[in-house]
Amino acid sequence: MAFNRTLITSALPYANGPVHIGHLAGVYVPADIYARYLRLRGQEVLFVGGSDEHGVPVTIRARKEGITTQQVVDRYHELIKRSFEEFGISFDVYSRTTSKTHHQFAADYFRKMYDAGQFLEEVSEEFYDPQTGHFLTDRNIRGECPRCHAQGAYGDQCEKCGATLSPDELINPYNAETGNPLTKKETKHWYLPLNDYQPWLEDWILNQHKEWRPNVYGQCKSWLDGGLKPRAVTRDLDWGIPVPVEGAEGKVLYVWFDAPIGYISNTIELCEAQPEKFGNWEKWWKQNDTRMIHFIGKDNIVFHCIVFPSMLKAQGYNLPDNVPSNEFLNLEGDKISTSRNWAVWLNEYLVDFPGKQDVLRYVLTANAPETKDNDFTWADFQARNNNELVAIYGNFINRALVLTNKYFEGRVPACGEWTEYDKEVMAQITGYKSQIESLLDDFRFRDAQREAMNLARIGNKYLADTEPWKLAKTDMARTATVLNLSLQIAANLAIAFEPFLPFSSEKLRNMLVLDNTIGWDDLGRIDLLEEGHQLGEVSLLFEKIEDDAIQAQLDRLARIKAENEKAAQAEALKNWQPNAIKELTNIDEFGKNDIRVATVLECTPVKKSERLLQFKLDDGMGGRTILSGIAQSYPDPSVLVGKQVLFIANFPPRKMMGIESQGMILSAEDADGKLVVTTVSAPVKNGTQVG
Ligand code: MF3
Ligand code: ZN
Repeated sequence: MAFNRTLITSALPYANGPVHIGHLAGVYVPADIYARYLRLRGQEVLFVGGSDEHGVPVTIRARKEGITTQQVVDRYHELIKRSFEEFGISFDVYSRTTSKTHHQFAADYFRKMYDAGQFLEEVSEEFYDPQTGHFLTDRNIRGECPRCHAQGAYGDQCEKCGATLSPDELINPYNAETGNPLTKKETKHWYLPLNDYQPWLEDWILNQHKEWRPNVYGQCKSWLDGGLKPRAVTRDLDWGIPVPVEGAEGKVLYVWFDAPIGYISNTIELCEAQPEKFGNWEKWWKQNDTRMIHFIGKDNIVFHCIVFPSMLKAQGYNLPDNVPSNEFLNLEGDKISTSRNWAVWLNEYLVDFPGKQDVLRYVLTANAPETKDNDFTWADFQARNNNELVAIYGNFINRALVLTNKYFEGRVPACGEWTEYDKEVMAQITGYKSQIESLLDDFRFRDAQREAMNLARIGNKYLADTEPWKLAKTDMARTATVLNLSLQIAANLAIAFEPFLPFSSEKLRNMLVLDNTIGWDDLGRIDLLEEGHQLGEVSLLFEKIEDDAIQAQLDRLARIKAENEKAAQAEALKNWQPNAIKELTNIDEFGKNDIRVATVLECTPVKKSERLLQFKLDDGMGGRTILSGIAQSYPDPSVLVGKQVLFIANFPPRKMMGIESQGMILSAEDADGKLVVTTVSAPVKNGTQVG
C-alpha cells in the first residue's frame, strides 16, 4: 500500500516511577531510531509519546510515598519527560493523559461508542472491601498464588513465578493496602464485545498481517484461538476519567481504554499547537495514505493488536500497519522490576554517565530483545563501549583525523589513482545504504546497527592494511589517497550512525565540518568531502569506561539485592501463620519421648554430604553421636560447640553415610526458612530429662 506519512507511537509509560533500560530497549530506542531514520529519508513523520497517568500503579505509588496521586504523576511525568529529552528520544510531542485535551477527547470517544450502542452493559459481582467501601481489582488485590503458593501475589500477576492471574484465582484474596479480607458485591460496568470483532480480527491479523513479527502474530493467534470475550472498559475507582454516562457515579474509564486514546489526544494537542508544521490531526488518524506503527513491549500486545484496533475500527479510524513489539530485557540475570527497584534508571544513568547517551543507546540496540528476552550486564556494557565504540569506531575516526592533521594540516588531501584494494573497499561502502535500509524497514534495528559498525570495521581495517603512517615516509601521494578515502568513510559513518547514535554523529559532523545538505541520501558516496576541505577540531568520539565506574554500578545492584531479600523476609514473616494445633494427646503419650539435654562437644560437616552435620554430645551418660540434616543452615557449625541442646534419646539408632546416629536434635525454623537448633538458656545437668 502506498503511504505518504508515518505516525509512530510508543507505549505511554506509567507515571509511577522513572523509566528504565527495559522501557528503553523495548520501546523508546527502537521507536526513536525508526523516527529518525524516516525523517532522514525526508518522510513526513509524527512521533507520539506521553505519560500514562491513570490506572492502579500510580495510586499504589502514591500510597507508598505518602503523597497524592496527582503529586505522583506530576513528579514522574516531569522526570520522565526530561530524561527522554536529555537521552535524545525525538518525540514530536510528549504529553500526558491527565491533560484537559485528553480527558475531553477520551470521554467523547467513550460517549460516541456508547451512543452508537457499541458497548454491553452488565451487572457483575466484583471484589469489595466492606470496611473501606471500595471495589478492588488487579494490583489492589493480593493473595496466595494458586500456582506456586507464594504469599502476596497480585490480582493480575504473581511476581514470584511470573504467572498471569485473575483476582478470582487468588487464594484468600485481601485488600493489598489494608490487608482486609474481601467479599463480592454487585456493580454495573460497560464492556467492549470483542467476540463481535473476532471474525474481522482473524481476517485482518491472521490473513492480512502475516508479516508481523512471529512473537506478535503468535500471541494474537493464541488469543484469537482461545475465543475473545467481552472486556470491561470501566472500573470502580476514584482516579481516572469519569464515565460520561448517567448512573455511572464513582466509575472511571479503564486505564487501558483511555491510555491508547492518548496517542490521538496527544496528536491533537500537537497539531493544534503547530498546525503549519503538522497539519490537521485527522490527517494522521483517518486518512488512508497515513500509516501507523506502534512500538510496544510484549506485555502490551493484546491491547495494541486486539483491543485498541477494535475501538479504532468501531469509530472509523486507521489501524496499525505494524506493531513491532519486543520481548523483555533482564538486568544481570533477573527480571527488571520497578517495585523491587531492580533496574537501571534512565535519570540516574544520565547523572552517572554524563554525555554518554550514545553508549547506552548503542548497547541497548546491540542487545535488543527483538526475538527473545535478553540480558543487560554492566560487563557487557563496558566491553561494548571499550571494544567496539572506542576500539573500532572511535579509533578509526581518531586515526583518520589525526593523520590528516599531521600530514595535510587538517585539509582533505587529493585523491590519486585507486588501487584494486581501494576499489574493493569502495564497492563495499556503496552497498551499505540499501543493506541498512532494508533492515531498518524490517524493524531489525540490531542487525542494522551491526551493519553500521561493520562499516567502521572496514575503515579500521583499511587503515591497518594500508598503514599511511608508514607510507608517509616514502609515498605522500599514496598517503593522500588513503586518507582521502578514509575521510570519505568517516563521513559515511556520521550518516550511517545518525539514527542510532545521534549525539556522536553530530560530534563527528562537526569534526568533519560536514555540510548540512549532506544526508541519508548521500550514504554510500565516496566524494562527500572535497579536496582541500578544511576539517574542524579533533576530539575523542568515545572514551574508555574504567572498571571503577562499572564496579560502582555492580555495588549498587548488590545493595538493592540485599535490601530486597530483607524486605522479602519481612513480608514472609508478616504473612506467616503457625501450623494448626495437632490432634489432642496426653502426658502418657508425650512421656514416651525421652527428651534430654546435652552439651555439644564437637559439630562438623559430614564428608560428601551437603545436608548432614555430625554432633558429638556429652549426654551425661558417656556421650553419643547424632547426625542432623541442618548443614545448609549452619555454614560455620562450630558456633554450636559448647551450647546445651535438646535431643530425643530413645529413637532407634540409624546409619547414614556410614555413621550411626543415636537420636535426633530438636530445632525450629526461623524467618527465612533456616533451621535453628533449640538451646537451653541457663545451664542444666547433661542427661536431664525435659518434660
Ligand atoms: N502504561 C502502559 C505500560 O507501561 C502502556 C500504555 S500504552 C498505551 O504497560 F497505549 F496505552 F498508551
Ligand atoms: Zn506464583
